[in-house]
Amino acid sequence: MDLYVDNQDGGDGQQDLFKPEYKKYKRKDMKLDLKDVIDFTKHVNMDKVEDICLQESQHPAVRGLKPVKEWKSYAIKGFPGFVFIKNPFDEGQQRYWIERCVLDYPNKPSKTILDNLVDMSNINDIWLTSQGESGANITSKDSLIMKLRWSTMGYNYEWNSRAYYDAMKSHFPSDLHELCRYIASTIGYQNFSAETAIVNYYHMSGDMGPHKDISEIDHDAPLLSFSFGQDALFLLGGLTKATKPVCLCLHSGDVCIMYGDCRLVYHAVPRILPADQEILKHCYNFNEETDCSDTQETVPAAPDVSNGLVTRRQGIKWDLFSQYLQCTRINMNVRQVLPPGGTHIADFPPPVCPSMNDSKQRETSEQNNCGQTQD
Ligand code: OGA
Ligand code: MN
Repeated sequence: MDLYVDNQDGGDGQQDLFKPEYKKYKRKDMKLDLKDVIDFTKHVNMDKVEDICLQESQHPAVRGLKPVKEWKSYAIKGFPGFVFIKNPFDEGQQRYWIERCVLDYPNKPSKTILDNLVDMSNINDIWLTSQGESGANITSKDSLIMKLRWSTMGYNYEWNSRAYYDAMKSHFPSDLHELCRYIASTIGYQNFSAETAIVNYYHMSGDMGPHKDISEIDHDAPLLSFSFGQDALFLLGGLTKATKPVCLCLHSGDVCIMYGDCRLVYHAVPRILPADQEILKHCYNFNEETDCSDTQETVPAAPDVSNGLVTRRQGIKWDLFSQYLQCTRINMNVRQVLPPGGTHIADFPPPVCPSMNDSKQRETSEQNNCGQTQD
């Protein structure tokens, strides 16, 4: 285990004020001190934030989202370019996205960490395979679904070279594209093109080390990040580690946007925390009899199915699904890769990050082939 060393050099001759904060929230051997953490749901440390008003979107409404005028959105003082939208989803409607993240998005042609861990040639449905694993408890660390830590869609991020390639591209789901285009337009970015997503699956001991996301060629487009399930502490820093980060508690449904001055800043997820069960019931409820995926009325966005019809999900053991969600946080992290009108990565020089003094584009504390670590 790393030693807790305060005020280390951030690598650029300046004091590292990020790592001490990261370690403070990550370490499990001391009582967690939440006194400086901004919590938009519990209204704690709201003097560090200001209300902002987002614009109505010109894009077709996305079912499952509240009208923009009802959203509660905030900026964080001293961190321009960061927009926080407190759960803009209608009651129960996060269920749709969680189902997509667990039941659909990780399956082929997406890439997942499982491709590196197990023989996936005969596994076409990760959830169904997991719930059928003989004798295995769905939440035991050996179950297939618990080993799923990330899945990528669209341009599949190559973790080793920290880059995207034209030859490594899979289908990007149209429902997620529409959701993101709609939300991006409310901050004035009209034509966001969702070209890559990393879906991160964290369990209770998971975290993600300090890093910046600079591998995309277009840094003018916003980065959209959605949280579902259990809570997370999120550290938002500056262009260098010399900026002391601010800590936010993210709850199910919350949306973070990193844009403009904030697009290339250091950030991290030092800790996953159990969510309030009462609040979660209003976000989704997998113990309910109703299967929200089966009717047009309750499906929030255009579903990505070939015949245009929404098919009822067959054979899902919702009690197991609910158990999985009890120990999981899901993060959909969506980015545009190419500048507007661009069609190929190869047409552009590799991205540069002005404040980086080394070649590390996605730097993590203990790289686990995925940016996440689990104890
Ligand atoms: C990422 C990331 C943050 C989160 O995937 O690059 O920063 O909230 N995720 O999980
Ligand atoms: Mn990131």
